[in-house]
Amino acid sequence: MAAGTLFQQINDYANRHNPYPLYAQLLKTPIIREPDGSYVISSYRLVTQLLSDPRISSDARIRGPEDKAARAAASSEFPAGFIRTDPPEHDRLRRMVTRQFGPPHTPDLIDSMKQELATIVNKLLDTLQGRTRLDIVDDYAYPFPVTIICKLLGVPQEDEPRFHEWADAIVMGLDPHPQTSADHPVMDAVEARNQLGHYMAKLILEHQQHPGTDMLSKLTTDQGPDGTLPLGDLISTSVLLLIAGHETTVNLQTNGMLTLLRNPSILEQLRNDPDLAIPLVEELLRFEPPVQFNSQRTVAADITIDGVTIPKGSPIYMMLAAADRDPARFPDPDRFWPERPDNQHLGFGSGIHYCFGAPLARLEVQIALNTLAQRLINPRLVEDPPPYRQSAVLRGPRHLLVDIDGIR
Ligand code: HEM
Repeated sequence: MAAGTLFQQINDYANRHNPYPLYAQLLKTPIIREPDGSYVISSYRLVTQLLSDPRISSDARIRGPEDKAARAAASSEFPAGFIRTDPPEHDRLRRMVTRQFGPPHTPDLIDSMKQELATIVNKLLDTLQGRTRLDIVDDYAYPFPVTIICKLLGVPQEDEPRFHEWADAIVMGLDPHPQTSADHPVMDAVEARNQLGHYMAKLILEHQQHPGTDMLSKLTTDQGPDGTLPLGDLISTSVLLLIAGHETTVNLQTNGMLTLLRNPSILEQLRNDPDLAIPLVEELLRFEPPVQFNSQRTVAADITIDGVTIPKGSPIYMMLAAADRDPARFPDPDRFWPERPDNQHLGFGSGIHYCFGAPLARLEVQIALNTLAQRLINPRLVEDPPPYRQSAVLRGPRHLLVDIDGIR
C-alpha cells in the first residue's frame, strides 16, 4: 500500500503494532490539513485547548449530508449517546446517568467494589490452573470488564456472544478509514447499533416491570430533578455504557501486561509493591492509551489557532496518544516511567466529555495487573509484537499469548 499522509499511515493496519514513530513525526506539524479537508491536531497544548472549546462539536449531524458520519448519525433508529451530543443535551443526559451510577462514584463505594473485583479476577485465574500458555485477552482481560459492566447495568452475561459481534462492529465504525478483510468481515456499524438498541429496548422493558438494584432498573424508574429519561435516550445511554464500559478496559489491561513483560524490572517492582499499580496505570494511560484519538469531532464555527483558520464543518481529529508523547509537555516521552511526576495525561480525554467511567476503569486495571503480577509464575511473551485488533482508534492486542510455569 502507498505510504499516504501520516494520518493515513497511522490508520493503516500495517502500523498498528507501533504507531509512535508516526506520532513523533506528526508532532512536528501540530495542525495538519488532510486531502479530504479534515484536520489532525497533535500537540498537547492544542489538543487540551480544543477539547475545551465550545466551537468543537461532538455531533456529526452538523456536517454536510454527504458526510459518512453525518449520514450514519441521521440513519440511526435511536438517538446518539451523550458522547455524541453537545450541551445542553449532553450535560442533561450525563447528569441523569451520573446520579444513578452509584458505585463507583463515591469513594466508599469504590472501596466496597475492590473486594468484588479482586474475587472476580482471582476466580478467572483459578479456572486457568494447570495451563502453561494463556491468552491474556480471551482468558482474562476481556471477560473481566464484561462481567463487571453486565453486573452494574443488569445485562445477562450469558448474552455476551450476541452483543460481542455488535460491539466489534460499533468499534470499527469509530475508525475514519476502517479496514476490513475477507477473513475479518464486520457488520455495518449503524446496523449493529440498531440491533443492540433493540436488544436493550427489550431488556429495559423487563427491568421496568421487575426492577432490581442495577443501573438499568434505576434509570428506568428514576423521577429526578431532570425528569424521567425518554425511552430513546435510555436505549442510547445503555448502549454507550455497555460498549464504553468494556471495549477500552480490555485494551488497557493487555497494553499494560505487554508493557510489563517488555519491562521485567518494573513487573518485579510491582510484584514487590502493589501500591505501584496506582501511578503505573496512569503512566500506561499516557504511554499506551486504549483510545488513541477522538474520531468524531467537527468544527462548528470557523476557528483560528496558531495562524491557521479551520473552517466550519471540518472533521477534526484530536490525537490523544500523540499529545501524550509531546516532548514539550512530557520529558523523555518514549520512556515508560511509572513514577513520572505531573502526569496529567489525556488517556481519559479532557473537557466535558472526560471519561465517565474513569474511577471504575482505574480500579479494574490496577487490580487486574496486580493479580497477574502476583499469581503468574515466570510469565514470558510468546510473540512480540502480538497481533493487534483492527481498530486504529481503540488500539490493543487481539491476542496476548504468555507462557507460564504455573499459577500461584
Ligand atoms: C468517554 C477512555 C473506561 C464510559 C471517554 C473518553 C475517553 C475514554 C478518552 C473521551 C471520549 C471523547 O472525548 O469523545 C476510556 C478508557 C477506559 C474507559 C481508556 C478504560 C481504561 C470506561 C468505562 C466506562 C466508560 C469503564 C463506563 C462504565 C465512558 C462514557 C464516556 C467516556 C459514558 C462519554 C462521556 C461524555 O461524553 O461525557 N472514555 N474509558 N469508560 N467513557 Fe471512557
